[in-house]
Amino acid sequence: MKTAHDLIQGGALRGQRVLVRSDLNVPLDSEGTITDDGRVRASVPTIKALSEAGARVVVCAHLGRPKGAPEARYSLAPVARRLGELLGTPVTFATDTVGESARSAVAGLGDGQVALLENLRFNPGETSKDDAVRGGFAGELATLADVFVSDGFGVVHRRQASVYDVALLLPHAVGGLVQTEVEVLRRLTESVERPYAVVLGGAKVSDKLGVIANLMQTADRLLIGGGMSFTFLAAQGHEVGKSLLEADQIDVVKGYLAQAEELGVEIILPTDIVVATAFSAEAEHSVVDAHSIPADRMGLDIGPESARAFAAKLADARTVFWNGPMGAFEMAPYAAGTLVVAQALAEATSKGALTVIGGGDSAAAVRQLGFEDSQFGHISTGGGASLEYLEGKALPGLTVLEG
Ligand code: 3PG
Repeated sequence: MKTAHDLIQGGALRGQRVLVRSDLNVPLDSEGTITDDGRVRASVPTIKALSEAGARVVVCAHLGRPKGAPEARYSLAPVARRLGELLGTPVTFATDTVGESARSAVAGLGDGQVALLENLRFNPGETSKDDAVRGGFAGELATLADVFVSDGFGVVHRRQASVYDVALLLPHAVGGLVQTEVEVLRRLTESVERPYAVVLGGAKVSDKLGVIANLMQTADRLLIGGGMSFTFLAAQGHEVGKSLLEADQIDVVKGYLAQAEELGVEIILPTDIVVATAFSAEAEHSVVDAHSIPADRMGLDIGPESARAFAAKLADARTVFWNGPMGAFEMAPYAAGTLVVAQALAEATSKGALTVIGGGDSAAAVRQLGFEDSQFGHISTGGGASLEYLEGKALPGLTVLEG
């Protein structure tokens, strides 16, 4: 697989138009202000290196899930401004993807200059399930460039025009961000240093079924918090009140609990829960036993005893992977569980453990709670992509680069 570094070392990039697929899918508030620019910052090194090598850099990316037509709230315009600030040079913003604006932005680039195209998902061809439609859009993107660099790790699990099809049409290389992400995640699947602890949280068990099955083969401890823990508690026969519950997954989860016992994998579930009368920071809340959640209460965080137990299970770990917050951390009364787990990861990192945080929510949580990226071994820019990698799935955006 050719790398962007090889292209740069080759010395032939000056004046070449390089299409870079980045993952710039950042959270915006209602004013259109970026609330976590982690993915933009992570995309800068590859763009900068190409620009310094004299390439005319055409960055493309998506934001949110618009349905194949422009929607102002999903515009990448605020991201173009932030990217320009981080690069220290203005970024030309094209107000369409492959139309007049994109063509003239690219034609106007001088050596080393950078343009960003509008949200790729404003074009139905980007995510179409029809190979010919996707291929058609990829063909139009390909006319904007001489070379393609794939650097959006967060989207490599998507068979989409700008991730997959365009690599079939242009000489291509893998960007430094994708390389780093894959190298770190590979360390979680091959020659893992033990004990290996995995912390899973977030709302849905069903999103994580594949990864739980796979991690069961490699991890020593599985710590389950967040919304998904209620399906585990229900599978053990406990009442979960009004908490999130995926009733159709209870049998699958029972199977996991049995399998974990057979394999000697420790599954650690919350023993106490912060419950509230409603999903609101103002709602009346208290800590209850995880095995007797009142019928009219919903669990919104793991309780203090559980948080201490989780931290203890992370204290001597040599490898930790964490995906998904422990509760509704955006609201102060339900942030403590996520905070304690983040602290435990930071401490494990300082003792030399490899700690990896995967997923937009967990990454946003640690930053919102005041941690620095440097307190962890690696914060992955990929949520779904990192989980699918750990599931052992072939990711289209990576396999296509091998060809
Ligand atoms: C993500 O947020 O995980 C990536 O940007 C991919 O976005 P998607 O799930 O909308 O494809």
